[in-house]
Amino acid sequence: MTFEFKMDEPQARLLDSTRQGLIGTAMPRPDGLAKVTGTADYAADHLPEGCAHGVLVRATVTRGRVTSIDEKSIAGIPGLLGVFHGPHFVRNPAQGTAGESPIRPDGEVHYHGQPIALVVAETFEAARDGALRLAVGYESEPAEVDPDTASEVERDDPQTRGDWDDAWNRAAARVDVTFRTPGHAAAAMEPHAAVAEWQGENLLLRGSLQMVAFNRYELADALDVAPERVRILSPYVGGGFGSKLGIGAEAVSAAIAARELDCPVRVVMARQTVFDAVLRRTETHQHLRLATDGDGKLLALAHHDRVSNLPGEAFSEPVSSASQFTYDALAMHFAQEVARHHRTPSGSVRAPGEAVGMVALEVAMDMLAKEAGIDPLDLRLRNVSTSHPMTGQAFGEQRLADCLTEGARRFGWADRPAPGTRAEGDWLIGTGMAAAARPNGLQDSAARVRLTAQGAVVETDMTDIGTGTYAILTQIAGEMLGLPAEQVEVRLADSDYPQASGSGGSFGASSAGSAVYIAARAIRETLAGRLGCAPDDLALQDGIARGGNVERPLAELIDGELVETAKVGPGKTAETHASSGFGAHFAEVAVHRWTGEVRVRRMLGLFDIGRVLNERTARGQALGGMVWGLGGALTEMLEHDPRTGHIANRDLANYHVAAHADVPSDMQVDFLPVRDDHANPMQSKGVGELGISGSGAAILNAIYDASGARVLELPATPDKVIAAMERA
Ligand code: MOS
Repeated sequence: MTFEFKMDEPQARLLDSTRQGLIGTAMPRPDGLAKVTGTADYAADHLPEGCAHGVLVRATVTRGRVTSIDEKSIAGIPGLLGVFHGPHFVRNPAQGTAGESPIRPDGEVHYHGQPIALVVAETFEAARDGALRLAVGYESEPAEVDPDTASEVERDDPQTRGDWDDAWNRAAARVDVTFRTPGHAAAAMEPHAAVAEWQGENLLLRGSLQMVAFNRYELADALDVAPERVRILSPYVGGGFGSKLGIGAEAVSAAIAARELDCPVRVVMARQTVFDAVLRRTETHQHLRLATDGDGKLLALAHHDRVSNLPGEAFSEPVSSASQFTYDALAMHFAQEVARHHRTPSGSVRAPGEAVGMVALEVAMDMLAKEAGIDPLDLRLRNVSTSHPMTGQAFGEQRLADCLTEGARRFGWADRPAPGTRAEGDWLIGTGMAAAARPNGLQDSAARVRLTAQGAVVETDMTDIGTGTYAILTQIAGEMLGLPAEQVEVRLADSDYPQASGSGGSFGASSAGSAVYIAARAIRETLAGRLGCAPDDLALQDGIARGGNVERPLAELIDGELVETAKVGPGKTAETHASSGFGAHFAEVAVHRWTGEVRVRRMLGLFDIGRVLNERTARGQALGGMVWGLGGALTEMLEHDPRTGHIANRDLANYHVAAHADVPSDMQVDFLPVRDDHANPMQSKGVGELGISGSGAAILNAIYDASGARVLELPATPDKVIAAMERA
C-alpha cells in the first residue's frame, strides 16, 4: 500500500529533534569512492556481450527533406551492421517533464545538425567512419536562422499589476535599459549516451537521464510501445544541467537499431553532437524599466523579453520569473515574445529564467541605485517583497533581507572605497553585489523505505546527477530511523522503483527527500506503537529505540521487515504560499585599464535555502552555480553561422566555460538557518539553480564600479569592456 501525503499544512519540525545527527551535516557522498575509482557504471561504461556501436548522422542542411540515404556509399566498411532512420527518429530531446515523444520529423530537417540516421557497426571506429561518409541527398528549403529578424513571432498576454503610466510618470529616478544574453550550452561533462538491449518485447535502456519517470513514457511513445515494456536505468549521471531532462536521439536511435539487429547497441554522442543536437539555452533580448520615488521605493518595474525556439517546441525560457516576486513595486509589467527560427532548439539549461533574467534585473537595479543616489544594498533592502506581488501569496519563511545585510557585513561592503578610486598598477579594482532568487516547489514523488535488522534500504527512481541525491536520501532515512549512514542503502534511477520527480528545477532533493521522509515517518509510528510510546516520544539513535521509560534495540521491534511506500505531492500550502530560495552575491574584480581583461578576485554568496540537508553538497551546488554565473558574465557564448544557424563553437575549447584559472580561490559560500514550513514536510528549499541566479550581475556591477564600463551585452569580453570604458 502506498501512503499518500499532500502538503496541506505545515508539519512538525521533526528533523530538529531527531537524534542521529546526520541531517544537515557535510556527510561525504556514499557514491564518492566509486566515482573517483572509476567503478561507478555510467551509461556508456556498460558494454553488454555482443554490443554494437552506433554513431549519429546529422543533417548538413538547415531545413528541408532527406530525399535519399545511400547505404551503398559505405557498404565496404568492415563490420558495418546497418543504417537506421525512419518515422520513429526524434529531431531533438524531449523538454523537461514532457512524458511524451519529442517531435518525430519523419525525414524532414528542421535545423542544421539534426540527427537523421544512425550508422551501426561492430566497432565504434567503423560506425564513425560510416556516419561521416554516408551519402545523404536533401531537398533544401529557405530557412530563417536569426531570432532578431525572424518573421514568425508569438506574443503572450502581458502580466500586469497597478497603473503603469501613473507610477512611471511620478518617479524621481528611472532606468530604461536593454540587455542581451547569448545562447548557452549545458556542457555537462559526460556526453549523452545510451545502451539499448531488447529481451523479447521488453526494452532495457541504460541512459544518462535526469527524469526516469518521465523518460520511460517519452521513450515508449517515441517507439510506439507500451510503457510497461520499457525499463530505464540511470544510476550515475555525469552532469545534466537540463540537457538530460528528456529522452533524446541517442536513446531512441539505439533502441530502434537494437530491435532491428537483435543485439545490444550503444550510442555515445561526440562532444560536437552534444552541442548541435541537444537543447541549448535561448539567447535573450531583455528590456527593463525601473522607477523609484524620492525615498528609493520602487514605483514601477517592467521586464519584457524576447527568446526563441524551433517551431513546435512548447518551451520558452521564463526570463522574468524571479523579477515577478523578488521586489515589490506599485506597478509591474511582464511580457514575452518567442521568435521562431531554425537553429538548434532551446530548452531548460540550468536555472532557466533566472540564469539570464536575474542578471539583467540586478544590473538594472544597480543602475537605478546610481540614478537615485542610493547605496545598491539599501535600494534592495527598501524593496524586498514580503509576499508575492503578482499572486498575493504569502512567503513561507524567507530571509532575503538577512542574506543581503549579513552578506554585506561579511564581505565588508560598507568599507569599500568610492567607485573608480582603487587601482593596483594598470588594474582597476571594484566591487559589486546582486540578489538571488529561484522559485522552489514540491513535485509529486514516491519512495519505498524498507527497514530490517540489517538496516534500511531506500528505493526510488529519483536520479543523482552529481547533486548528491545518494548522500541526501541516506541522511534523511538514517536520521529518521536512527541509523548510521553505513546502515542505509539508497538505490536510485531504476524505472521499476516508485516514481519520483527526477532531477530538475531544483526540486529533486526536497521532493524525493520528502517521500523518503514521509515513508520513514510512517515506519516510526509503527515502531512507537510496538515500543508502547507516543510517536512524539520516540527517540531513535544508532539502532536503539527509546520512548517512555523503555529502551530496546530497533532490531527487536522490526519482526522481519517494515516497509512503507510514500507518495508526496503539493497541497494547499502551494496555493496559499509562495516559496523561493533567496540569496545575495558579492564580487570583487580587477579590470585591466588597457586590455579590458576582467579577473574576478573574490566572491561571496550567502543563501536562504530553508533547511540545509547536506552542507557539503549544498555548498557544491551553490559554488558551482556562482562559477557558472561567472562564466555567463565573462566568457560563455554560443556562436551561430549566420548563413545556416549551425553552432560554430561546438566543443569545450571554443565554447568557454569558466576554467580553474578563471575562478578565484577566495569563494565564500554559506547558508542562513531557515525553516520554510510551507514548502514541504522537511522545511527545505531547492539550492541547485540558486547560485547561478544573479551571480553574474555582481561581477558586472563590480566591473562598472571599477572602471565605469557598463556592459549590457554578454559575455563581457575585453572588446566590450574596452568599448564601454571608452563610452564612459
Ligand atoms: Mo534543470 S535546467 O531543470 O536540470
